[in-house]
Formats: sequence, structure tokens, C-alpha cells
Amino acid sequence: MSRHQLLQGKTAIVTGAASGLGHAIAALFHDQGARVIVADLNGEAAEAVAATLGGDAHAVQADVASEASIRALVDATVSRFGAIDVLVNCAGVPQVYTAIEDLDERHWDRILGVNAKSIFLACKHVVPHMKQAGGGTIVNIGSIVGVRPKPGQNAYCASKAATIALSQSLALELASSHIRVNVINPGAAETPMLGGFLDPAKTSLEDAKKLFAGNIPMGSLIQPDDIAEAALYLASSLSKQVTGLVMNVDGGRGV
Ligand SMILES: NC(=O)c1ccc[n+]([C@@H]2O[C@H](COP(=O)([O-])OP(=O)(O)OC[C@H]3O[C@@H](n4cnc5c(N)ncnc54)[C@H](O)[C@@H]3O)[C@@H](O)[C@H]2O)c1
Repeated sequence: MSRHQLLQGKTAIVTGAASGLGHAIAALFHDQGARVIVADLNGEAAEAVAATLGGDAHAVQADVASEASIRALVDATVSRFGAIDVLVNCAGVPQVYTAIEDLDERHWDRILGVNAKSIFLACKHVVPHMKQAGGGTIVNIGSIVGVRPKPGQNAYCASKAATIALSQSLALELASSHIRVNVINPGAAETPMLGGFLDPAKTSLEDAKKLFAGNIPMGSLIQPDDIAEAALYLASSLSKQVTGLVMNVDGGRGV
């Protein structure tokens, strides 16, 4: 099979696709023949990405932490493209260093809502369509801090650990329905989110990049295309016997 046909005829929802890793995933999937739903809270940016991709890409404004919004996203996808073969849960929010005694409940709920509850909601509403079609693939974007936590990113690390455990539980639950569920744990990646992990009053973005890269054994930040290539492997038949995998794409940071 040509590398340009890996997702031919498939329909993929990519959340958080207006920026960073999600954008790179949506672009590569589209390039590989998929019909792509570019889903994001930032509807305007999602429209711009879908317009750049061109035919068979469609933007949907959605808040992944809201069940009503996820239901509307799934309905919009099915009514436009008739199926959902691939789901990539990529939308997320970062956390700056916050001492546990300073972490308020609203902040905890938002981070867990966008990064973890979203995966429950999207799977809940997408899986019935995949079961009806006889299978599908789900790729969830975790983080290396889900297995190698950092101090002060308490809620963020918890949200990513939840992502990993939920994905592996679903991999077992859905295996007999031919729905594969895998996780990618990116290391520090060069996207707009990176600055959101540090207080800009204390550290400039350029210094932050150096700091993060310095903690990566291979010495450089992860690029969005590195994650998109991994997602393509997990979403396509290249990985047809792979489920429940937690794939660190992190330059060795998790070792
Ligand atoms: N950048 C990194 O260093 C890094 C490292 C490890 C894991 N990750 C994870 O990768 C994923 C993508 O991050 P990124 O670096 O591309 O960030 P990004 O900020 O570039 O993109 C995140 C996108 O998610 C969207 N989003 C935020 N809240 C949303 C919501 N409630 N509903 C729908 N969309 C929403 C944003 O509008 C944005 O377009 C996240 O899950 C993040 O936690 C990032």
C-alpha cells in the first residue's frame, strides 16, 4: 500500500486540531486520504485550518469538556461524512507550576475536564458508531508526565495518568469489537502550549525551550510532525495488531 493511501476512505475526528500537535495530525491524515473533522474550541482557527487543508476537511467548533458539545460534534461528523473510523483526542490545556495548597477546585476541574473527561465523553459517543461499522481506531494524546510526573504540575500529571489508564481499560473492553485504543505520550513539544507550562513573568519562551530541550536525552524538542507520524501509525492498518500501547515520543525523556 502506498504511504499516500494509509487512510484512504476513512473519516477522522481530530480534537484540538486548530493548533500544534492536533493541527499536524489533521494535516497528515488529510494528506493520507482521510476526510478530517477539525474540531476545536477555537472555531475561527479551526475554520482556517480546514480551509487550508481544502476538500474533505471540515471545521466544527466544540468544547471537548462538554457532553452536549461532543454529542453535537459526533452528530455533525456522521451527518457530513456518514461514519467515524478514527478518533484522535488531542485537545488539551497546560498548567503552570502551582503548589497544591494554591490549586483551586475550578482549575483542577477544568484541567481534568479538558484533558481527561473529554476522552470518556468522546469515546462514549463515538464508540457506538465504530461498533456499528465493525471497528475503528482511537488515539489518545497523553504526555510523558503521565508516567514520569513533574512537581507543581499536579492536576496536569493526574489528567494524563487518567488518560493512560482509561485508554488501556478501553483497549481491553473494546478489543473484541475490533476497536483499537492507543496512547501517544509526547515529550516537551514545540507548540504554542509549551509557554503555558511556565510563568512568562519568570521565564521567556526562548529560555523555556532551552530548559525543556536540556531535559531531553536526545537534546531537542519534539516536533508536531513527530507526533503526527506516530498517530498515523496507530490510526492506520500499519498497527493492526496493536492495542493498549503507550508510545512515548519523547526523545528518551521517559526512560
Ligand atoms: N506541547 C507539549 O509540550 C505537549 C507535551 C505533552 C503532551 N501534550 C499534549 O498534546 C496535546 C496537544 O497540545 P499542543 O501542544 O498541540 O497544544 P496547543 O495549545 O498548540 O493546542 C491545543 C488545542 O486544543 C484546543 N482546546 C483547548 N481546550 C479545548 C476544549 N475545551 N475543547 C476543544 N479544544 C480545546 C485549543 O484551542 C488548541 O487549539 C494536549 O493534550 C497536550 O496536553 C503537549
